Amino acid sequence: MWVDNYNEDVASSPSGRLKQLVSFQFTDNTLTITLRRSILKLFIKSGFQIAPDALDYMLDLENPLEAAESVIHQSNSSVAPPVLSRDHIEGLLSTRTEIPESHDIDEGSTNVILPENSSPPEETEWSINVVKNPTLESVGSAGTVDDFLALFNDRLRRIKRIYMSRIDTQGAISPQAARNKRDDARHYKAMNREGMRTQKRLTHTVVGMVKDKRISRSRNVIVQLEDPEDSIVCIIPTGREGVQGRELADSGNALLLDEVTCISGHIDRDGRMIAQSVIFPDIPTSREMGRARRDVYAIFISDLHYGSNEFLEDEFDSFINWVNSRDVDSSEKEAVQKIRYLFIAGDLVDGIGVYPSQYEDLFIPSIYDQYAGLADKLRKIPKHVKIICIPGNHDACRQALPKPPIPEAYAKPLYDLGSQIMMMGDPSQLIVEGVSILLTHGDSLDDAVTQLPGATYKRPAIPMKEFLRKRHLVPMYGGRTELAPLHRDWMVIDTPPDIVHFGHAHHNAVDNYRGVQIINSGTFQGQTEFMRKQGIIPTPGIVTYVNLRTGAPEVKFFYKGLIAESTG
Ligand SMILES: [Fe+2]
Repeated sequence: MWVDNYNEDVASSPSGRLKQLVSFQFTDNTLTITLRRSILKLFIKSGFQIAPDALDYMLDLENPLEAAESVIHQSNSSVAPPVLSRDHIEGLLSTRTEIPESHDIDEGSTNVILPENSSPPEETEWSINVVKNPTLESVGSAGTVDDFLALFNDRLRRIKRIYMSRIDTQGAISPQAARNKRDDARHYKAMNREGMRTQKRLTHTVVGMVKDKRISRSRNVIVQLEDPEDSIVCIIPTGREGVQGRELADSGNALLLDEVTCISGHIDRDGRMIAQSVIFPDIPTSREMGRARRDVYAIFISDLHYGSNEFLEDEFDSFINWVNSRDVDSSEKEAVQKIRYLFIAGDLVDGIGVYPSQYEDLFIPSIYDQYAGLADKLRKIPKHVKIICIPGNHDACRQALPKPPIPEAYAKPLYDLGSQIMMMGDPSQLIVEGVSILLTHGDSLDDAVTQLPGATYKRPAIPMKEFLRKRHLVPMYGGRTELAPLHRDWMVIDTPPDIVHFGHAHHNAVDNYRGVQIINSGTFQGQTEFMRKQGIIPTPGIVTYVNLRTGAPEVKFFYKGLIAESTG
């Protein structure tokens, strides 16, 4: 009986199983309820909400789950409304597109990737759905002024969509509409003169992009919020007392140029907003966390810098031994045997010409040989462990974000690892065993440490939390982090992940923000002379691994030397 085969993880299960499921007839009301729940989970996990009548409409379709997959795929490829209506879904399904089947497509795929072995045992099955992956084809641009305009308009649309899905900001108005409210302020003033002081001043919420920011002589923060039609000046007082007053001041000071934000307050007679609060798009506090249905582990590393004189070969070899269940503590043995995924968040190799006189710091001065040598190391990773790589600023890739995968022309030996390895772009987001994982190298930490209060390389979780709060991986523009002028802003965190994985800081960090597991995976490179001059003190050889069923992180130390004491 097919019901016996059904289980709750259908929402994150592979397409094949979904198709198998929907091939049966639903004749029982209980099954309809179960199917309704499964479709809802599928939409929620993909970051969408669906209107009740739209859900009813989908349940009446011949293959509801297949239709849901198609709607999600198409909605991911465009800017969908915060709540998917029946009209929206009907429109999408009338022009239904095929869901790509291979894993190297850009986004929206729901597929399962298996090892090359044609009949793998159950425990070696990998479950990976690619949600976001900037491929070379999707990240090209002519680089005109119009392209930059399109990029920022897309950022505004995407962050606005997040605000529109929140109860407290879904009524946010445009800068033009807010400025028009100045008549309310004039009315309020007139009533004051007549002694009618009991009327409450109206509060409005405006959404826009920060076009300008300055500090007034009285230390208030003055920002100009704009959208394509108009702009409004917002005054954010920083001298108010109490917790709320301090929060308002901190939020105002944390605003960055070109970020999209919501400000709530009243409009004065000159059409300026006097802020009462700054509302960041943020991570919802109540949401369903993605969890694996079985005990399976993922490892998170980055910044190997293979080819550098300071690459910690002994420590990396110890790590590979450990993954192979050699030299494993008895307490770790069970977990190590259940490792199925290895994420590498960039800087696989040290590269060439990345900084002045780098040549002197290289024991392998050829980029091709660096990737070949690293491939020799990764070839020793057990075949049941899937390796997922993105580029870093030291890899043979363009500097502007989003970055396509490291090209095969430079890293052919890695590509030769075949189906065991996925070469992806930066940023990428995948659903692995039902757990949403967002990967980025973290180039923008360079700007964060100079622009965000409290951010340092030694404490990368601080800026990582701020990026989550702002729902953007590069909320600042014009600094060291280059952005490609595309018509899509790939750096928006459209869907909150369960795990966010950064590198670049060379400092290990494991933290949590509103349920999102934060991992900065440190490095396998010792301190270089360049780092010493920059004051960067790494924490090398620390590996973070996570049980994807429980979400619990663990760290394993492979560094044999002394970690330099921080002087900062
Ligand atoms: Fe690095």
